[in-house]
Amino acid sequence: MKRSAIVLGFALQLSSVAAQTANFPYEESQLQWRDTLGNPFIRPGNASQLPDEASRPLCKAWPGSQDWPTQDEWRQFNISLDGALLRPEPPAFACHEGPRYNADQCRWLVREAGRTSFWIDNPLAILTPWPQGNTCPATLDKKGTCTRGGSPEYVVRVATVKHVQAAVNFARNKNIRVVIKNTGHDFGGRSTGAGSLSIWTHNLKFFEFVPNYEGPGYTGLAVRVGAGIQASELRNLASTYNITVAAPGGGTVGVAGGWIASGGHGALTSKIGLGSDQVLSINVVTADGQVLTASPEMNHDLWWALRGGGPSTYGVVTSVVMKAYPTIRTTSISVAFSVNPNATQAASLRGPFRGSSPSPFPTAPITAPFPNATSTFPFPNTTAPRNVTVPPRGNSNPTLTDVQAFWHGVRLTYRYCTKVQAVGGYCYSYIYPLGNSSFRFTHSFTIPDLSPANASLLMAPLYTTLALGGINLTQPRLPTQPQRGPSPSGARPPFPIPTGTRPSPNPTPVRESGAASLSSTRYRSRLIPQSIFDSDPLYEALFSAIISGVAEGGYTFHGIAYTPTLSIAGPLGVDSAVNPAWRRSALHASFMDNIPDNLTPLEARLRDARGRRYADALSLKGVEGGGEIGAYMNEGDPTEVEWQASFYGMEKYGRLLRAKRVRDPWGVFWAPTTPGSEEWEVKTLDGYPGSQNGRLCRTGRGV
Ligand SMILES: Cc1cc2nc3c(=O)[nH]c(=O)nc-3n(C[C@H](O)[C@H](O)[C@H](O)COP(=O)(O)OP(=O)(O)OC[C@H]3O[C@@H](n4cnc5c(N)ncnc54)[C@H](O)[C@@H]3O)c2cc1C
Ligand SMILES: *[C@@H]1O[C@H](CO)[C@@H](O)[C@H](O)[C@H]1NC(C)=O
Ligand SMILES: *[C@@H]1O[C@H](CO)[C@@H](O)[C@H](O)[C@H]1NC(C)=O
Ligand SMILES: *[C@@H]1O[C@H](CO)[C@@H](O)[C@H](O)[C@H]1NC(C)=O
Ligand SMILES: *[C@@H]1O[C@H](CO)[C@@H](O)[C@H](O)[C@H]1NC(C)=O
Ligand SMILES: *[C@@H]1O[C@H](CO)[C@@H](O)[C@H](O)[C@H]1NC(C)=O
Ligand SMILES: *[C@@H]1O[C@H](CO)[C@@H](O)[C@H](O)[C@H]1NC(C)=O
Ligand SMILES: *[C@@H]1O[C@H](CO)[C@@H](O)[C@H](O)[C@H]1NC(C)=O
Ligand SMILES: *[C@@H]1O[C@H](CO)[C@@H](O)[C@H](O)[C@H]1NC(C)=O
Ligand SMILES: *[C@@H]1O[C@H](CO)[C@@H](O)[C@H](O)[C@H]1NC(C)=O
Ligand SMILES: *[C@@H]1O[C@H](CO)[C@@H](O)[C@H](O)[C@H]1NC(C)=O
Repeated sequence: MKRSAIVLGFALQLSSVAAQTANFPYEESQLQWRDTLGNPFIRPGNASQLPDEASRPLCKAWPGSQDWPTQDEWRQFNISLDGALLRPEPPAFACHEGPRYNADQCRWLVREAGRTSFWIDNPLAILTPWPQGNTCPATLDKKGTCTRGGSPEYVVRVATVKHVQAAVNFARNKNIRVVIKNTGHDFGGRSTGAGSLSIWTHNLKFFEFVPNYEGPGYTGLAVRVGAGIQASELRNLASTYNITVAAPGGGTVGVAGGWIASGGHGALTSKIGLGSDQVLSINVVTADGQVLTASPEMNHDLWWALRGGGPSTYGVVTSVVMKAYPTIRTTSISVAFSVNPNATQAASLRGPFRGSSPSPFPTAPITAPFPNATSTFPFPNTTAPRNVTVPPRGNSNPTLTDVQAFWHGVRLTYRYCTKVQAVGGYCYSYIYPLGNSSFRFTHSFTIPDLSPANASLLMAPLYTTLALGGINLTQPRLPTQPQRGPSPSGARPPFPIPTGTRPSPNPTPVRESGAASLSSTRYRSRLIPQSIFDSDPLYEALFSAIISGVAEGGYTFHGIAYTPTLSIAGPLGVDSAVNPAWRRSALHASFMDNIPDNLTPLEARLRDARGRRYADALSLKGVEGGGEIGAYMNEGDPTEVEWQASFYGMEKYGRLLRAKRVRDPWGVFWAPTTPGSEEWEVKTLDGYPGSQNGRLCRTGRGV
């Protein structure tokens, strides 16, 4: 199915092809010359007419300064937007001193809002609030007044592409900082900023199934996805059509924004590749205000950069076309066990580690090597005799007393994931420090295209080996229903199957939670390469770093394991900006730190430095075969020092920087740790590392 090309009202003669293939009617509603007559500030830009370096402003405009637009200009701008301009209050104003204080509303915000989609649907809120500067926290201990802090000044509630164009043009012409937000999931403050105009794409909830897509490099099932669609909505819509589409594992995460722009992982990543590997074309509004399509045939620099080369950098994505697949069924199995050295219920604990000396980890220095196993602890072997298929019966979540047995079980389980990845599966895990040398481990395996019985067979050796090591788990009964697929009741689509029309369905039924709560988490992570898993000494060194971070550092470890190799990526995915570290990786390894909201800036900086030390250890710097390990920017450290190398790879970074400079020579789009962002910095008002509470200014540092 091909759409007619729409040529812009402005005949801009730039390096781009100014033609766009609209996926949805909202992309046909574009800015026309007549719209700009009453308001010259929304005229498009011309990169050939840039002011020279000496005369360009050092900083973005700031509210209250002379360079900030007048009330009347904002009013005019609002008219050009058909009234889509919002000036929202920070949502937690009800919790703070002042005329808006309201104890009932505040209680609801603190206790109930996280069980709803309130925060995700709010025009200002971000789910990880620390970058906002903590100037209006949702808290019951009423303190101080609520101020805007690092939240945007104005928000454009986008309903058409014209709104995006007008917003980009207004911000560029008036030198205003821009942020782009869909769901506000970003962990590093990339969807908020003081003194900014926010382009809020969240309501572009449009979807279309294309049964016979024909495009360069791909023919087959596809879907058109509007910029506001979230993962659970996409999964539900896909299952309605009996297809599978790659989506973020977290059901509330947006699909077309930060996820695709940074690679993006999900439960099927080992099977069908990253989010960015799915893309067939992207519609985008660039910094000059043009709408265009980036595809293998058009605007190749953008086509390459928008798939993995960073969010909020080259333009505002309004929709994407993605591959779809015949329904892929998955089976999930989980493993969970804990350790508490003081536990009294040491029942049914047998095995080689019983009675061994206490683990050295809790007090070990960060460099302590993990000791070698003291007795035979065979690596599970799936080709072993089939008589292991009758699972051992034991506890479903035992509590051990032997810390060393615990860590051995953890090490075995992570390494066993290699077997699951080999059949296209993925593993998802946490290690929680509980204090007093107690830990809890949870790990789930998601396996595509295997019957539950065959999945059980695949997993049985792990249970056997764990039991030999004193961790006697019940192998769970596997579900007989597909995890994601058509609902058993055969629910009808809530809208007709399209035959050339463009339905904009209400994305129901929701079988996943659309709720999300706030949490000031700081992620630090590494994409651990397969080569570390293939080498016993390197694997030991990795585990030494993981154990130090959890047992000594006190961080929760979050591991997600998949293998989006170049061969899984497919020809389109291979030629993209995505971080090369993804292609080698077998484990996305993260430490999570929950930031208390009462730290002083100095305490925050010290805490940051401490966390970085543990995360750096995951890189195995100084270990032969280690070092040079990249990271996933969406779940990485937003204050990472060498972020260009970690998040993009130096072999790709130069090309990304060129695309940024060609497409956005004004610096309209900016977000921390995106290509070109080193030319700007936030002059923070509060001194917190990574804070977006301050004016955005040029550093004077090029690269
Ligand atoms: C609860 C939770 C679960 C998660 N689960 C997963 C997971 O399973 N897999 C995974 O890969 N990641 C996951 N993440 C991380 C997630 O990928 C990132 O937070 C991602 O940035 C979210 O994108 P968003 O567009 O929804 O969020 P936002 O915060 O709205 O935006 C993120 C970034 O993308 C930019 N952006 C948004 N929309 C556009 C657009 N239309 N055009 C250009 N730029 C845009 C924003 O400016 C910002 O820089 C999870 C995060 C959370 C909080
Ligand atoms: C852009 O600017 C250049 C140089 O001034 C000019 O030649 C060109 O016509 C301009 N393009 C448009 C569409 O105005
Ligand atoms: C923009 O216009 C609409 C419609 O007139 C109005 O409801 C809204 O309050 C205006 N926005 C601002 C920021 O004034
Ligand atoms: C759904 O798709 C699968 C795989 O293509 C097919 O086997 C199955 O029959 C389909 N189910 C329905 C209800 O159409
Ligand atoms: C573990 O064993 C290897 C090889 O047998 C040895 O080189 C290494 O020093 C041992 N590590 C520890 C911590 O004992
Ligand atoms: C796995 O089991 C098979 C069959 O018993 C055996 O031939 C092979 O050597 C084993 N591999 C390992 C690594 O133990
Ligand atoms: C499993 O099979 C092997 C080889 O056939 C045999 O040696 C072993 O005793 C069997 N184990 C059980 C528990 O039946
Ligand atoms: C596991 O527990 C079951 C039931 O308590 C017991 O019968 C079995 O022998 C145990 N297996 C091992 C290897 O300890
Ligand atoms: C640790 O143990 C002490 C003494 O037994 C106890 O008071 C404390 O609550 C425990 N802490 C945790 C986090 O379990
Ligand atoms: C175990 O309990 C004893 C006595 O309550 C306490 O002194 C000790 O600190 C505890 N150890 C751990 C690791 O929790
Ligand atoms: C399960 O494994 C058997 C034997 O390898 C194979 O014949 C069968 O096709 C598999 N079934 C599924 C659904 O994977």
